[in-house]
Amino acid sequence: MENALLSYEERMRWFHQARFGIFIHWGLYSILGRGEWVMKVEHIPAEEYAEMAKQFNPSKFDARNWMSLIKESGAKYVVLTTRHHDGFCLYDSKVSDFTSVKTAARRDFVAEYVGAARDAGLKVGFYYSWLDWRFPGYYDHKAQPDSAKAMVDQAGEQIRELMTNYGKIDILWYDGHWVPGLAEEELADFWHSREVNAMVRSLQPHILINNRCGLTEDIDTPEQHVTASQPGRGWESCMTMGDACGWGYIHNNPNFKTSTQLIQYLVTAASTEGNFLLNIGPKPDGTIREEEAERLKAIGKWVKVNGESVFGSRRYPFEVSPWGVGMIGTGTAKEDNVYIHVFRWPQQGEICIPGFSKKIISAIILGTGQTVTVELASNGRTFLKALPAVPPDKHDTVIKLVIAD
Ligand code: GLC
Repeated sequence: MENALLSYEERMRWFHQARFGIFIHWGLYSILGRGEWVMKVEHIPAEEYAEMAKQFNPSKFDARNWMSLIKESGAKYVVLTTRHHDGFCLYDSKVSDFTSVKTAARRDFVAEYVGAARDAGLKVGFYYSWLDWRFPGYYDHKAQPDSAKAMVDQAGEQIRELMTNYGKIDILWYDGHWVPGLAEEELADFWHSREVNAMVRSLQPHILINNRCGLTEDIDTPEQHVTASQPGRGWESCMTMGDACGWGYIHNNPNFKTSTQLIQYLVTAASTEGNFLLNIGPKPDGTIREEEAERLKAIGKWVKVNGESVFGSRRYPFEVSPWGVGMIGTGTAKEDNVYIHVFRWPQQGEICIPGFSKKIISAIILGTGQTVTVELASNGRTFLKALPAVPPDKHDTVIKLVIAD
């Protein structure tokens, strides 16, 4: 019971330290390669969709391969879709036959995932969708109250199973709590999420719960954009690597963001005390596509050199201009260090930071160790000079300033 006394700040500590997580959308829908909404968007009848479970036998799935790549990306935690809106569970459930354990694969992928993530030293998150498209009561809970009740009861039971059968779980990442005809403030009553979350916290006292349950809980979840919450409140931006319309595997997904963009999203979140949850959608055979693997590795290389500027970062504390540190990029802060993140390397070999009131003891380029000359000028300007002509890091060069407090 000792854990139950942990304060919000204490429970959130590791999350702020972590800053970077990987989201994994993988399930039956991966077979079709048209995203995780395919059943709904293409009006596939539930019985027809369920037939796909006979083919879902991902011969190349090895959770250890996923986790070693995720480790290499520098991420500190991982969140897997244990069950998406289609209702197909990647784990064993007593209250459903529509699971990977009772169909072709005969495997509990959630158990394999948890084991591998723990072995890799990653914190473990479960994504779980409240809604289940297979229930007619989801679409019209007033006309079909029994079906709606069965769906609600199933969610409560399955959440209990997930919180009971897999050891310590660090994040419960809810989704799909919206219900046709109900307003946001009615959703907690509909899903009984107050009672469910009390049960979750009694089983997993340290757990972090996101806000997609009709209640505020611990973490805000901006989707496909990086937008900070109020200071003191935990938040995490989730984002797809490819087109925003799909999180599960999309076979031809032509608009992958560059590694540079992804690194800069991570840094932008870290500059206002937020996390970045970057999604991958593995293939139906359980392997991770090249475009995703490549980006995870590139981010990892950057993190290896510059990670100290994001892990455990605080908000960049200087109100300097509408653009943070001016037009060149942004800043993060930690202890007595300020990190200037240069996204747009200047031509002139110098950077101006306006409004920087602290005394700088030293300035170096993190990646190369090169010392940077600091000069103060009129109007509260600080110049960083004698910079190389070519940016030392093409994604984001970090200049570390040690400041006197
Ligand atoms: C949305 C979508 C869902 C996706 C999620 C990720 O709510 O319904 O498919 O899993 O966003 O945040």
